[in-house]
Amino acid sequence: MKDLISITDLSVDELESLIKKAMDIIDNPDEYAEKCKRKKLATLFYEPSTRTRLSFEAAMLELGGSILGFSEANSSSASKGESVSDTAKTISCYADIIAMRHPKEGAPMVAAGAASIPVINAGDGGHNHPTQTLTDLLTIYRERGRLSNLKIGFCGDLKFGRTVHSLIEAMCRYEGNSFVLISPDELKIPGYLRAGVLDKNKIPYLETDNWDNMPELDILYMTRVQRERFFNEADYLRLKDVFILTADKLMSAKDELVIMHPLPRVNEIERAVDEDERACYFEQVRNGKYMRMALILMLLGIE
Ligand code: CP
Repeated sequence: MKDLISITDLSVDELESLIKKAMDIIDNPDEYAEKCKRKKLATLFYEPSTRTRLSFEAAMLELGGSILGFSEANSSSASKGESVSDTAKTISCYADIIAMRHPKEGAPMVAAGAASIPVINAGDGGHNHPTQTLTDLLTIYRERGRLSNLKIGFCGDLKFGRTVHSLIEAMCRYEGNSFVLISPDELKIPGYLRAGVLDKNKIPYLETDNWDNMPELDILYMTRVQRERFFNEADYLRLKDVFILTADKLMSAKDELVIMHPLPRVNEIERAVDEDERACYFEQVRNGKYMRMALILMLLGIE
């Protein structure tokens, strides 16, 4: 495999191998400190990021490699009208691997078609975010010891939340999983995911606009309402605070519930929940670096 554009580019065996590699990196960081010596990662971020860009950069630095790139389109020649394809061809002359975030769905795929080096989709519009899913899979595995037979609640902006789309696609591939999709009517999952993934694979799921199923959940995956994807500010303001997770709402939840959020958070999890032992979102952040180290090694073909 040259590129990672969608989580389905990875087989279940490859996902398992990445999780194993990330766990080995956690246990034996010194063994990996020079694995990417003289290799360069280019981070091409046309859209803002804190975790994804910096964890990719930290990952490459911890592997002994170097980094280059840009963190906004305006500081690149995209501002002069350069195409994604030409940028990808250009960066192929300077770096060994690219991580790209772009507001347009499909842009990393276009880059992959033009580049002669591996391209990783670091988030494309409201579509996919496969490396966040790798992070999420490692977090679920470390917290629950398995990726199967789980009831997973997704809450918030399930329409534009690209991390939700990629994680649903991943968790459908493990047996016995089911989903509770909690959102306002306007922010339900896209039709292609409902028909083409859930219905097609006969995955049990419930779409709801309330918290009633909280006691059944093994995982609760909260998401931010994605202001930047709305066409109309009034709609965003009307929907942004419909679902806020509070300590009170968690009183009926399982003791072993795993509370996740890809971050950044706005209002959708109140700060008091951070003190709850079940809150794992900052562990998720930490896991992101290890999974991206494992992915870089895999795509560069380094054992
Ligand atoms: N989870 C995530 O993608 O965060 P950033 O937007 O900060 O990269």
